[in-house]
Amino acid sequence: MDTPAPLIDPFARAIDYLRVSVTDRCDFRCVYCMAENMTFLPKKELLTLEELDRMCSTFIRLGVKKLRITGGEPLVRKGIMTFFNSMSRHLESGALRELTLTTNGSQLARFADDLYAAGVRRVNISLDTLDEKKFADITRWGRLKQVLEGVDAAQRAGLRIKINAVALKAFNEDELFTLQEWCAERDMDMTWIEVMPMGDLGNEDRLDQYWNLKDLRARLAERFTLTDLDERSGGPARYVRIEETGQKIGFITPLTHNFCESCNRVRLTCTGQLFMCLGQEDMADLRAPLRASADDRQLEEAIRAAIARKPKGHDFDYSRQTVDGQMSRHMSHTGG
Ligand code: GTP
Ligand code: 5AD
Ligand code: SF4
Repeated sequence: MDTPAPLIDPFARAIDYLRVSVTDRCDFRCVYCMAENMTFLPKKELLTLEELDRMCSTFIRLGVKKLRITGGEPLVRKGIMTFFNSMSRHLESGALRELTLTTNGSQLARFADDLYAAGVRRVNISLDTLDEKKFADITRWGRLKQVLEGVDAAQRAGLRIKINAVALKAFNEDELFTLQEWCAERDMDMTWIEVMPMGDLGNEDRLDQYWNLKDLRARLAERFTLTDLDERSGGPARYVRIEETGQKIGFITPLTHNFCESCNRVRLTCTGQLFMCLGQEDMADLRAPLRASADDRQLEEAIRAAIARKPKGHDFDYSRQTVDGQMSRHMSHTGG
């Protein structure tokens, strides 16, 4: 069989990273990600696990090498292990380089061993604070203890962990070193993320919350020697090594340093919409072409047509002391 042409966008970026949100539901309500009273999609709107498999397998045939499962919280989708187990065939064949997920950690105690068995080797866990009270505040519904048990279970299962923390002014500024030391002790990587203007902000004020990573980095550099690394994990993070400990710290800086020129990813939602950029409204419906026929030709054409409209980048901007480029969609819609 001929190898299909790879997915290349109008800016000559090769698209080989697919993020798939398998559910819009979550057992937490993080303030920067969801409203407190979210209306979720009716179950009948969701792609079935078989349809998700067909979607992902088509993208893999078109050259996707990295598949990241997201949500909402991906591990609350019923039957999700069936999907992971089925995706592992693409790791075995060598078509896929990495199968991974971003999770809030709440269900890892249940699923860590099964994920490892399905070929997952690395998970990103979102955790912004190690203080129980602050954790309850920021997640509204979460319990820190449950997540820490998830972290333990994942490490016992042999999964490599990266902790993702959203940098939030007057919230976790005072935990910069505590979080970094905790990750170092447990041999986990860590990435800081600038808060992006997504979703109906309600009473949340992004400018008040925003802690820019230039400042965060300068504070780290007061105590440690930082060396920039060329190393990439396939996502937008840029890494430094802390020379004193050997630890790696990542920075995701959509606001202070745009990384769109090297964008390699698109996002599929649980209803089959393909978002070509996290920071733009345009999307393509892939559910209709998927359901239109049992062979994948129409779906492949729809995917290529969508990639051909991938925009140059987002327009998030706080530099004028206003929130520009805001998206009305919540982060949970596309899973970050
Ligand atoms: P690695 O495989 O560890 O490199 O992961 P990753 O950074 O690709 O994925 P993760 O789910 O850990 O994402 C971390 C953060 O980066 C999330 O807040 C995402 O929203 C953000 N992010 C990922 N991709 C993009 C992107 O294309 N644009 C913007 N603006 N943010 C992104
Ligand atoms: N800005 C930046 N990161 C966010 N995340 C969720 N909402 C936002 C936001 N508004 C992060 C989560 C998780 C990842 C998928 O996205 O903390 O680590
Ligand atoms: Fe890619 Fe859009 Fe993210 Fe920029 S904002 S890196 S173009 S998804």
